[in-house]
Amino acid sequence: MKILVTGGAGFIGSHVVDGYLLAGHQVAVVDNLSTGKKSNLNPAAAFYELDVASPELGSVFAAEGPDLVSHHAAQASVKVSTDDPIFDAQQNVVGLLNVLGACVKYGVKKVIFASSGGAVYGEPRRLPVKENHVLRPGSPYAIAKMAGEHYLRYFAQDYGLEHTILRYANIYGPRQDPFGEAGVVAIFSRILLDGGTPEIHWDGEQRKDYLFVGDAVRANLLALTKGRNRAYNIGTGQGTSVNELFQALSRIIGTSVKPRFGPKRLGDLRLSYLDCNRARRELGWEPQVALEVGLKRTVDYFRNVNS
Ligand SMILES: NC(=O)c1ccc[n+]([C@@H]2O[C@H](COP(=O)([O-])OP(=O)(O)OC[C@H]3O[C@@H](n4cnc5c(N)ncnc54)[C@H](O)[C@@H]3O)[C@@H](O)[C@H]2O)c1
Repeated sequence: MKILVTGGAGFIGSHVVDGYLLAGHQVAVVDNLSTGKKSNLNPAAAFYELDVASPELGSVFAAEGPDLVSHHAAQASVKVSTDDPIFDAQQNVVGLLNVLGACVKYGVKKVIFASSGGAVYGEPRRLPVKENHVLRPGSPYAIAKMAGEHYLRYFAQDYGLEHTILRYANIYGPRQDPFGEAGVVAIFSRILLDGGTPEIHWDGEQRKDYLFVGDAVRANLLALTKGRNRAYNIGTGQGTSVNELFQALSRIIGTSVKPRFGPKRLGDLRLSYLDCNRARRELGWEPQVALEVGLKRTVDYFRNVNS
């Protein structure tokens, strides 16, 4: 297949690009490098440094003629969205609409959309949360992801543009930005390896679902041909507290440093983990990398890159 990956210089998108290339597909990347890095780019993919909201996006579609678009480009920080909801909507709503318009104009068959299972449901009423749970997004970032899902449904209905929505859990692994607002595994790994003291927000007993990035890549491969016009939770089904993550990383790194505790952040949730049985049944997907193994791989990566 010819696949265009937006956000392909970012953390998850770059691994998705690698996965598609390994499976023999032809890949092009659109990324404005706002948080992505050139060093993440796979040289076997064509690269266009461009904003997804740009009027020039059509020329990339005209040149590449993709069969499928994997839309990973986004402003991915809840904190940035609460600080500046207009910026968030420009990137995550208007950017998506520009991509969908180009898909229709240039005959793309399908879009895979990186949504967020940790965001669109809000504070879940039942755990683990299923896809049919009411959507009560609790931040501008989450509202934009939910709007994106509705736009996809609309484009399927009126234009026949197919989609698969992947509602990711908290994804972690190599290449995640350790200096970003989110990505607790990367942030703690970097600080602990450098001998510093991480700050735990709230009391650290908030429990989320942490999935290794390689498992998210496999969902993206399966979604090339499966999951027509459906949304899937992509996580482990297990809640892990920030305190447990801190302890596991300390053990792997071999440090006994004590964390500092700081205030709760706006938009943060107490409990959120995902029921992934729909993905198991319909995509044949399930997580394969145990938390301890994924954390070790992530620490190994951060040991070998310069801080
Ligand atoms: N990391 C997670 O745990 C997680 C969880 C749920 C959903 N997601 C979603 O997955 C996707 C990838 O997230 P990530 O963690 O890899 O973040 P990331 O910031 O590493 O990747 C986003 C990429 O998109 C690019 N980008 C941002 N705005 C752009 C724009 N307007 N035009 C072109 N490129 C743009 C950035 O430069 C970056 O390379 C995002 O859509 C995010 O919302 C991530």
